[in-house]
Amino acid sequence: MIPEEHNKALDAWQDSARYWDKYRALIAQMFAPLTAGLVEEARIGIGQEVLDIGGGNGEPSLTISSIVGPTGSVMYTDPVAGMVEIAQAEVDRRGLTNVQLRQCSADDLPFADRTFDVAVGRLSAMFFVDPVTAVREALRVIREDGYVSFVVWGPKEANPFFSTVADVIDRFVESPPQDPDAPDAFRFAVPGKLAGILKNAGAKNVIERQLNFEINAAISIDQFWQLRTEMSESLRTKMARLAPAQLPTIKQAAADAARRYFESGTMSFPAEALIVSGRKSAL
Ligand SMILES: C[S@@+](CC[C@H](N)C(=O)[O-])C[C@H]1O[C@@H](n2cnc3c(N)ncnc32)[C@H](O)[C@@H]1O
Repeated sequence: MIPEEHNKALDAWQDSARYWDKYRALIAQMFAPLTAGLVEEARIGIGQEVLDIGGGNGEPSLTISSIVGPTGSVMYTDPVAGMVEIAQAEVDRRGLTNVQLRQCSADDLPFADRTFDVAVGRLSAMFFVDPVTAVREALRVIREDGYVSFVVWGPKEANPFFSTVADVIDRFVESPPQDPDAPDAFRFAVPGKLAGILKNAGAKNVIERQLNFEINAAISIDQFWQLRTEMSESLRTKMARLAPAQLPTIKQAAADAARRYFESGTMSFPAEALIVSGRKSAL
């Protein structure tokens, strides 16, 4: 990615930060199974020193903080100032003493070799500018035999939480075809793709596990529409190109498409993710 495009991508995350803060409680609940999967795959336990890469509004750092306990520690990282600010505010609000935060990009980690036991990233690897360099960096800063684990979305078709609204909006706004290697939520949905990157970067014992779960929350279709169209930068951009008069029709079409996932005031979408893990080999 050329530097200008990279800055644009980070600006988009900067604009998203306030929505990731606004929906903090819902996001924590909806994506909790992803954190649980990461913790299990990376064998995170009491007393460990854990690096979180691309921590966004604070997950999985906040959850891992209580798992590693007072004898362990978490280093939250994210390249976007707005994300670091909202995560720091939450760490302060909870009075957590074992979490530190650093603003940095995955491909240039400001830590000495072998600083951490484990490195993890929840829903961030697909946005890394240079994934092989980023994984090499993660491996550099963990100790021998330590785990690196990333959780990413599976195919769009298996994730209607994203596709229901996006597909409807795409019928009304022209969307140019995307480079499959460009940063995007579904960049690593193809089985083996991220695993290949871990292997290229020098990880050993690379394993890919499919995680099927449900995205549950007690929200209405209206609240779901608002959440999706606020949290997603690509949807915000597309919506801005629509004529206001088109909105009611589009919102209705999205509600019709989403209705089957809403029953008695509760939302429940099937979801699919991949957890890709490897270990640092002895040099
Ligand atoms: C979908 S959010 C996920 C945030 C959080 N881990 C979660 O699961 O809620 C993606 C995060 O990746 C971060 N990100 C984007 N480019 C990155 C990079 N080059 N290195 C590390 N993180 C990056 C964004 O700033 C954003 O906070």
